[in-house]
Amino acid sequence: MADFNDVVSRRKFLQGSFALGSGAFIAATIGPAKATSFLSGFNGISFNPVPANGKDTITLPKGFSWHKVASWGDPLWSGVDDFDQITRGTGESQEGSFGDNNDGMSLFDIEGKSILAVNNEYCNRKIIYGNRASGLPETSDDVRKGIASHGVSIFEIEKKLGKWKIKKDSLYNRKITGDTKIALDGPAAGFYLMKTDEDLTGKVAKGTFNNCGNGRTPWGTYLACEENFHGYFSSPSNPSASIPPEQARYGLKTKDKGYNWVMNQDRFDLVKNPNEVNRHGYITEIDPSKPQSMPRKHTAMGRFKHENCEVSISKNGQVVAYMGDDERGEHLYKFVSKGKYKKGASSNYDLLTEGELFVAVFNDDGTGKWINLKESGMSEPEIAIFTRLAATKVGATTMDRPEWVAVNPKKVEAYCALTNNKNRGVKDNQPINAVNPRENNPYGQIVRWTPSNSDHASVDFKWDLFVMAGNPETAEGLYKGSENINKDNMFNSPDGIAFDSKGNLWIQTDGKYSNSGKFAGMGNNQMLCANPRTGEISRFLVGPKECEITGITWSSDKKTMFVGVQHPGEKNPDSCHFPDGGNSVPRSTVIAITRNNGRAIG
Ligand code: FEO
Ligand code: CA
Ligand code: CA
Repeated sequence: MADFNDVVSRRKFLQGSFALGSGAFIAATIGPAKATSFLSGFNGISFNPVPANGKDTITLPKGFSWHKVASWGDPLWSGVDDFDQITRGTGESQEGSFGDNNDGMSLFDIEGKSILAVNNEYCNRKIIYGNRASGLPETSDDVRKGIASHGVSIFEIEKKLGKWKIKKDSLYNRKITGDTKIALDGPAAGFYLMKTDEDLTGKVAKGTFNNCGNGRTPWGTYLACEENFHGYFSSPSNPSASIPPEQARYGLKTKDKGYNWVMNQDRFDLVKNPNEVNRHGYITEIDPSKPQSMPRKHTAMGRFKHENCEVSISKNGQVVAYMGDDERGEHLYKFVSKGKYKKGASSNYDLLTEGELFVAVFNDDGTGKWINLKESGMSEPEIAIFTRLAATKVGATTMDRPEWVAVNPKKVEAYCALTNNKNRGVKDNQPINAVNPRENNPYGQIVRWTPSNSDHASVDFKWDLFVMAGNPETAEGLYKGSENINKDNMFNSPDGIAFDSKGNLWIQTDGKYSNSGKFAGMGNNQMLCANPRTGEISRFLVGPKECEITGITWSSDKKTMFVGVQHPGEKNPDSCHFPDGGNSVPRSTVIAITRNNGRAIG
C-alpha cells in the first residue's frame, strides 16, 4: 500500500511547474486524483514499496513471489544438451536453446496454449565466452554460438505445480536467429541499395539481431525491433576504409563490437558487401501461431535503432505504431498505416507494409507536431533506409534517447521513456529545451503526449513531462527530479515502460547501479509502478547485481506477470550468480511473478 501522507503531499506539488533559467518551460502537471486512487494507490493492486538494495536476487513486496521460467542456454527441445557451466554451450547447443540477454517479450494465447515470444537482444561476450581467455569468440564455432544466441526465441510454457516451465518439443517452439531467412517488404524491398551477392532480388534478408523492445499487434503477431545492428559489421578486408556519412550516422565503424561474425560470413564485411547493412535496423513481424511462416521486415516503418513498437488503432481504423530511436540526439517516430484494421481479416497481415512515417517536433510551449518524412524531399526507398537523415531534414527534435513507448489503454495518451543523455547541452545539435531540460541528463525523464481530437492518427499533440527521474537527496535543482520523486522511489534511466490492462504504468530501468554519488540510494536496476492519474510512483521490484530489468508481459488470466532480467553480472561475472546461486555463471532470465493470494497482477 502506498503511503497515504506521501500521496497527499504529492497532490499539492504535482500542480506546480518547473521553471528553467530562460523562461516558462514545461510543466509536469498531473490532473487531480480521484479519491479512490488515494486508497488503492494503483489500479487493482496495492503493495508496500520495496527499498533500494544491491542484493544478488529479486526483491518483491510482501505477498508476491517469483520463480525462474527460462534462462540463457535452457534447451527448447529434448536431445539438446542442458546448459554447461564450464563450456557455456556450443554452436549446436545454442541453436536448440533459449538465447542470451532476453529483452522485450509477449505471451500469446494460441488455441489455449501459452506461447512466449522473447527477444534475445545480444550476447554478453564476457560471459558466453567466459571459457576463452580473451572473453571473445576465438573459433568459428564460437561465432556460430554467438549468432544463435541472438534473435527471437518462441516457445510454449506450461504451469506445473504452480510454476511456469518451458514445454520442450512443442510444435510452436522456434528459434529465429542472426541466420534465419526473412522477407523484406515495403518501399525499400528490391531497391538497388538492398541487393547483395547472396540476394540479387533485394527482397530476402538473412537474420534479425539486436532486437531490443518489442510490440504486438491486435491480429496476433509479434514485432521484434532491431536496435544496435551496427555493432556486427566491420571491414577487415580494408581496415582503413572510410565510412560514408549516411552510414556513419548509424554508428558504423571499421571495427565491430567484439562479435566477430565476419569471421564466419563475408556479408558482415562493409567493404566486400556494402549493401548488407541496409537490410538491418527494421521492425520484424513474426506470426507465433505459424511456426513455419517466414518473418517479414517492414521497411515502411523506417530504419533506425528501434527500441519498441507500440501499436494502437486510430479512430478510423488505421494502425498507429509509435517507435523510439535509442541514441543520443535521435528522434521519436510514428507510422500510420494506409490500410485499416478489420477484426479477423486476413488483410491485417499486410497493414505494416504500406503507410506514412512521421517524426516528432516538441515545442517549448507544451505543443507538438508530427512531421511527415515525405517533406524531406527524399524518395520513399531512401526515407525507408536512411530514415535518420530524412528526420534531420524536416527539423525533428533531437531527444534524450527515446526508449519504449506505451499507450494508455484507459485514455488516449502515450508515454515515452527518455533514458538519459550525456550530450544534452554539450553537442550543438542537442540544445537544452523544454522536453529535454537538463544538461548532461544523467537520470532521464518520461514524456507524455495527448493527441488532438483524441486520435493517435492526429498530427498535433500536447505534451508534458510525467516524471523527471533524479536524486532528491544528493542533487540540486532540476537534478533532484520532479515532485513525484522522493527518497523512497528514486531511480535513474527509465527504459522499458508498459501499461497493464488496469491502466497502471510499469517502469523498468537500465541505469547506473553504483548506488553512490549521483546515484546514491537508487540501488540495483528495478521496476516501479506508476499511477498515470496521480503521478504516484512506487518501487515494486529490485533486480540482482549488474542487471537491467527489461521486458514485461502477462498470462491471459493476468495472474502471472513475466519480467525479464537481462545481463546479471555483466561487468563482474564472478560477483553475480543469478539465478542459480552457488558458484554458478550468471544468466539472463525470464521470471514469473505471482501474488500469494492467487489474484490478478495487472
Ligand atoms: Fe536495447 Fe535502448 O535498449
Ligand atoms: Ca532497452
Ligand atoms: Ca537502455
